[in-house]
Amino acid sequence: METLRIGMLGFGTVGRGVADLLLNKQELLAQRTGMKLRLVRIATRTPERDRGLRLGNTEVTGDLHRVVDADDLDVVVELIGGIIPARDLVGRAMETRKHVVTANKALIAEFGAELFAMANAHGVQLSFEAAVAGAVPVIKALRESMAGNRIDLIYGILNGTCNYILTEMRLKKLPFHQVLADAQAKGFAEADPSFDVDGIDAAHKLAILSAIAFRTHLDFSRISLEGIRHIADVDIQWAEQMDYRIKLLALARLQEGLLEFAVRPVMVPRQSMVAAVEGVHNAVFVRGDFAGTTMYHGRGAGERPTASAVVADLVDLARDLRSGGKGRLPPLGVPVHHLRTLPIQNAAQRHGTFYLRLAVADRPGVLAEVSAILARHGISLDAVHQEGRSHVEAVPLIMVTHETTEERIALAMGEIETLESVRETPRTIRIESGLA
Ligand code: HSE
Repeated sequence: METLRIGMLGFGTVGRGVADLLLNKQELLAQRTGMKLRLVRIATRTPERDRGLRLGNTEVTGDLHRVVDADDLDVVVELIGGIIPARDLVGRAMETRKHVVTANKALIAEFGAELFAMANAHGVQLSFEAAVAGAVPVIKALRESMAGNRIDLIYGILNGTCNYILTEMRLKKLPFHQVLADAQAKGFAEADPSFDVDGIDAAHKLAILSAIAFRTHLDFSRISLEGIRHIADVDIQWAEQMDYRIKLLALARLQEGLLEFAVRPVMVPRQSMVAAVEGVHNAVFVRGDFAGTTMYHGRGAGERPTASAVVADLVDLARDLRSGGKGRLPPLGVPVHHLRTLPIQNAAQRHGTFYLRLAVADRPGVLAEVSAILARHGISLDAVHQEGRSHVEAVPLIMVTHETTEERIALAMGEIETLESVRETPRTIRIESGLA
């Protein structure tokens, strides 16, 4: 039986999962591919650490070049993450004619174009199913199962850390910083959580998904980005009262030739499927003109779920090599010369309804002042909630608007913030009512 000789860079959580799967499911993988998938070598900065696996004749080395420069490997699995040194190592592996499988979303989102060109030049494959939503097979679904569709909308919950934090804030009625600290203590959130909580990780994944869905160049830098640090527990409780849930939503919507391209916290109806995606789970929704809306749900991170996706790419590679189908699938679903750049919809064109929360002095005339500014900007209100308690400095004033534009909201809130009766920076959260 032919052998696919595998080298791996990185032996952390996901690396352990990949090694475990490859070492313990050899027969199953051989049946499914017609090849022996052999983990020849793992390079890690901590080769001496015991990972509790029986590694047999798999070599563990501290020298990353023993993997990327090797001539006894067919494929390199990159699980180091980040850009430096992963970008150079992946480039080197491809230069030396090795295929690459990676779970690195930042690398693909920011340097995918350069790396796909290199892969093409060297006649190797670069696969990245594990880079988006862990075990959820969404790259495959978009690139293969939805190939006959014109896609106009893709959205999802692409960051498990944020979804876990928002879920815990709601269930335990705790503020953001307390839930984050707890998640860090339990190992669910990184010591430096900014990639997750500021929306960057979700935006990397959205950039990859939308490039495939809309046949565009990878364009992470044009995503409008807002994280969840400023979401207060009171916003979450108000959302509950109004039958909504707050989610960090990554969304790309193509309307009349313009792309809405955003990662931001939004309120979604409590009965919607997207609201039901809780805790560390991820979900992606894709709307195609023939398929309608499809949903993909599962675990977006962790040892076994991410390893499952990495090994799926190795299995695809083995099948392609055996059948002579190497290069069958362009990385973004179409050859590079078919990729386009779509104009991005600006704030003036982005319509929606909004939740507004102010902290105002509890005295006569305040609501009139605020609503006069909203009226001047053509913003009409659907609902207003005020809880008056005159013995406190400021009381919450909650408003829900009718359909308006983001630009009008931004201008009106800028003016409202300067009122003497407004005691804190107003909060605005978009309401997405039309999602599955
Ligand atoms: N940090 C990511 C998350 C997982 O919390 O979903 C890896 O992309």
